[in-house]
Amino acid sequence: MNYDNILSEVKEGICYITINRPKQLNALNGATITELNKAIIAADNDKLVRCIILTGADTKAFVAGADIKEFAEFDKKLGENLARKGQEVLFDLLENASTPSIAAVNGFALGGGLELAMACHIRIASDNAKMGLPEVSLGVIPGYGGTQRLASLVGKGKAMEMITTAGMLSATEAKDWGLVNHVCTQEELIPMAEKLASRMKRNSPMAIAKAIKSVNAGFTDGVNGFEVEISEFGSCFETLEFVEGTTAFMEKRKAKF
Ligand code: CAA
Repeated sequence: MNYDNILSEVKEGICYITINRPKQLNALNGATITELNKAIIAADNDKLVRCIILTGADTKAFVAGADIKEFAEFDKKLGENLARKGQEVLFDLLENASTPSIAAVNGFALGGGLELAMACHIRIASDNAKMGLPEVSLGVIPGYGGTQRLASLVGKGKAMEMITTAGMLSATEAKDWGLVNHVCTQEELIPMAEKLASRMKRNSPMAIAKAIKSVNAGFTDGVNGFEVEISEFGSCFETLEFVEGTTAFMEKRKAKF
């Protein structure tokens, strides 16, 4: 499919999605969010896609936030709609997708940009990356799940500090805080994401999907994550991938999923 604001390409089991508005530092306007929604649904429905790598075009920004120019004139209702719809069609969608996603943070990841990276299952950052939730400096708060996901990733105290000071973390600080898993040079960023993806590709996509669902359940209000794990564990036993995985182990060969 052709898009105006993003690039999406599937190669060797990986769907590369690049937010492509470099002149606006890849800021997320409504059209970009709609295209990301379509690209993620397409990747998640494509059996050949085993991992999604999300990054920003050029070397300056991953995503510098929601597009401020677009919501500058909004009122309460429009503001609420922006947050609700955005969370639903992009951020929750990505977090709950069956296909694992890696944010390759290649520069500024601010506001909605950091929120997008946090909705991915894994984050890696290049050493020039800067991450923050600067919304309070604009008189607004994070609206794409940032207050919730940041606190669950780095803990409530650190999230409060980052949000109330509107400060930015360097890549190494973000790693120390547990916000990103790995830091590398810009040149190494996509190869490092591909290395993680290639390790995922060896494993059962069915089991990965159930593991994602179970981990997410533990962070969902009113849902007992242990119960979800028990039920998802049980349902693995009625799948061909479970038969293949265990048979391959017994036959001392690599499983073919
Ligand atoms: N929305 C719209 N346009 C943006 C943008 C954003 N979030 N971030 C950058 N841009 C645009 C700039 O307006 C500028 O466009 P023009 O050339 O047409 O003026 C272009 O990108 C380049 O940006 P700068 O000239 O500002 O570049 P810089 O190197 O001087 O500064 C920066 C870089 C520190 C990232 C700065 O651009 C900045 O502070 N951006 C805004 C970051 C921000 O506040 N993000 C949070 C947005 S609110 C949000 O995300 C709410 C939510 O949770 C739903």
